[in-house]
Amino acid sequence: MAAEGPSFELVRAEWRRRVEAEYASACITQELVLWLMQIAASPDLIESGLEVVKDELAHAELSMQTYLAAGGTTPPVLDRARLCLPRTPGAPLEHDVLRACVDVFCLGETVAVPLFKNLREGCTEPNARAVMTRVLRDEVRHRDFGWTMLPWLFELPVGEELRAIVERELPVWFRRVRTAYGATAGRAVGADRVVDDSARAWGLMEISRYAAVVEETFEREWKPRFHEVGVDAERAWRAAVG
Ligand SMILES: [Fe+2]
Ligand SMILES: [Fe+2]
Repeated sequence: MAAEGPSFELVRAEWRRRVEAEYASACITQELVLWLMQIAASPDLIESGLEVVKDELAHAELSMQTYLAAGGTTPPVLDRARLCLPRTPGAPLEHDVLRACVDVFCLGETVAVPLFKNLREGCTEPNARAVMTRVLRDEVRHRDFGWTMLPWLFELPVGEELRAIVERELPVWFRRVRTAYGATAGRAVGADRVVDDSARAWGLMEISRYAAVVEETFEREWKPRFHEVGVDAERAWRAAVG
């Protein structure tokens, strides 16, 4: 299918961004797995993490194929500053493992499941749809990796310190995930972009839809899941929204 017209500029830009994002996910998960090994996490958790790394590399490769199929020619930009996890100087490694666990997996990978479900709905172009199907299947495991890791971290001797970090920083992480997906619809970058049927067929959707999915995810996923591990997400969410 010839990839022409103004909406294809959008399609190509989006798939190039996805290649970059999937590759970055592989890198930061690889680093998190190393950290899990360094704090002697259970072999099961380490194995699950390694599976996630392989999935993310596959997502990057499949997204690249779709980008090329859409006529993309400009190579993706791999910004090395975004290909690693930040270390807090002087703080125990467990603190930064916890931060990556909650921010990247309990928030990011958890909202990714309904986002990809929505993106896949209107997606009919075979290359793009194959990626969506694979990613959607894998994101469920990636989400579960985070929610398995979190209670394990809370059981560590430093568990109480880690709980305190979640209580303190959860509003910041919620705020970030809302901003990343255009919570301030109308003001967000790209909020005015028009996603027509041909772009939808390639797996794109409006920024306002992203924002709506994030809001729904709070009630459906974050609130009950955090509650289960004894974290009051409601208060953090109110602080993030207000
Ligand atoms: Fe991915
Ligand atoms: Fe993922």
